[in-house]
Amino acid sequence: MKNILITGGCGFIGSAFIRFLFLESDFSGKIVNVDKLTYAGNPYNVADIIEKFPKRYTFIKADICDHIAMSKIFEDFQIDTICHFAAESHVDRSIVEPDSFIQTNIIGTFNLLELVKKSKNRFVLFHHISTDEVYGSLGESGYFTEDTPYRPNSPYSASKAASDHLVRAYHKTYDIPVTISNCSNNYGPFHFPEKLIPLIILNALEEKPLPVYGDGKNIRDWLYVEDHCRAIWAIMKYGARGGTYNIGGCCEMSNIDVVSIICDIIDEIILPKNRRKLITFVKDRPGHDRRYAIDSSKLCNELGWAPKESFNTGIRKTIKWYIENKEWIAQVKSGEYMSWVNKHYNFK
Ligand code: NAD
Ligand code: DAU
Repeated sequence: MKNILITGGCGFIGSAFIRFLFLESDFSGKIVNVDKLTYAGNPYNVADIIEKFPKRYTFIKADICDHIAMSKIFEDFQIDTICHFAAESHVDRSIVEPDSFIQTNIIGTFNLLELVKKSKNRFVLFHHISTDEVYGSLGESGYFTEDTPYRPNSPYSASKAASDHLVRAYHKTYDIPVTISNCSNNYGPFHFPEKLIPLIILNALEEKPLPVYGDGKNIRDWLYVEDHCRAIWAIMKYGARGGTYNIGGCCEMSNIDVVSIICDIIDEIILPKNRRKLITFVKDRPGHDRRYAIDSSKLCNELGWAPKESFNTGIRKTIKWYIENKEWIAQVKSGEYMSWVNKHYNFK
C-alpha cells in the first residue's frame, strides 16, 4: 500500500483516519484525499496534516461519481489502494432527501469499483467502510454477526447495503482484492453536530433544548473514533481479502442514558446547572431502528483488535474537545448545516 486514495477524508471518520495514518501508524506512503466538500466535509479537519506532511499528502476536491475526474486522479497518482469513506451519512437527511444518498453511496461506489477494475494489475486493496445499520434492528437480545442477513430500514442504510453488495460482487466476479467493515456508532472530535452526541454537547453547553426522539430507549453501540481507525488499519493490513469484519465498542447504551451522562459531565466540569432539565422528547424518527449491538469477536480473535477507550473516557475527551474548539464550532455553525436544522426543527 504505497499510494492510498482516501475518499471523504474531510468528514468526521475519514479525517480521523488520515490523522491516524500519519501520526499513529506505521504507514510510510502517500495519501490522496478526495472529497466533494458537501456540508459535512471540512478541510480544516486535517489542517495539521497539510502543514506537517506536504510531500505525502494531497487534497483534491472532486465528486466520486465523476468518472473522468476520478480516472485522472487514479492515473496521476498511481493509486494502488482505496479506503472508501465518502458517503451521505445522516439517517434523518436520507428520510427527507434520499437522492444524494443513492448517487454518492451507490453510484459513487460503483464508479470507484469500475476504475479499480481497469487498473486491477497494480491494485492492492479496496477497503469499504460500512455500517451496522445494514443489518436492520434487533430485539432485546442478540447481536449482529458477519452472517446476519441484511435488512436495512432507512434510505441511508439501504444505500450502504447496496454498496456493500457491489463491493462483494466485484471481489467474486472480477477478483478485486476487497475488505469490508461494518461499524457501530462512532463519536469523538470533529463530529458534525447534526448527529446525536455532538448536537447534545453543543446544545447542553449553550443551555438549549436537548431533542430526544420517541421514548429515548433506542439503543446504539458506541465506539470512540480512534478505536475505529485502529480497527480499519488492522483489517487493511491483515484482514482476509473478500472478508467482512464487524467493529463495535461493546458499549450498548440507550439514547436517554447517553444524553443524561453528557448533561452530568458538563454540569461537573463547567457549572452545575441541572442540564437534564433541558431534555425535550420530540417526534420519533420514521422507521427508527430500536437496537443495534455488534459482535466483534471475529475482528478481536483473528486480528487482535480491542477498543482502548471506555465510554466514560471517550466521552470526557470528546466533551473537552468541543469546549476547547470554539473556532471549529463557529465555522461549522455558520454553514449550510444551520439552515437545514432551522428548517426541520422548529423548536431550535
Ligand atoms: P461524514 O458525513 O462526516 O463525512 C462524509 C464525507 O464524505 C464528507 O467529507 C463529504 O464531503 C464527503 N462526500 C460526500 N459525498 C461525496 C462525494 N460524492 N464525493 C466525494 N466526497 C463526498 O461521515 P462519517 O460519519 O465520517 O462517515 C464516514 C463513513 O463511515 C461513511 O461511509 C459512513 O457510512 C460510515 N460509518 C459512519 C459511522 C458513524 O457513526 N459516523 C458508523 C459506521 C460507518
Ligand atoms: O450505527 C452506525 C450509524 O450511526 C452510521 O452508519 C451513521 O452514519 C451514523 O449517523 C449513525 O447513525 P444513527 O442514526 O444511529 O446516529 P444519530 O447520531 O443520528 O442518532 C443516534 C440515536 O439518537 C438514534 O437512535 C436517533 C437518536 N437521536 C438522534 C438525533 C440527531 C435523537 O434522539 N435525537 C437527535 O437529535
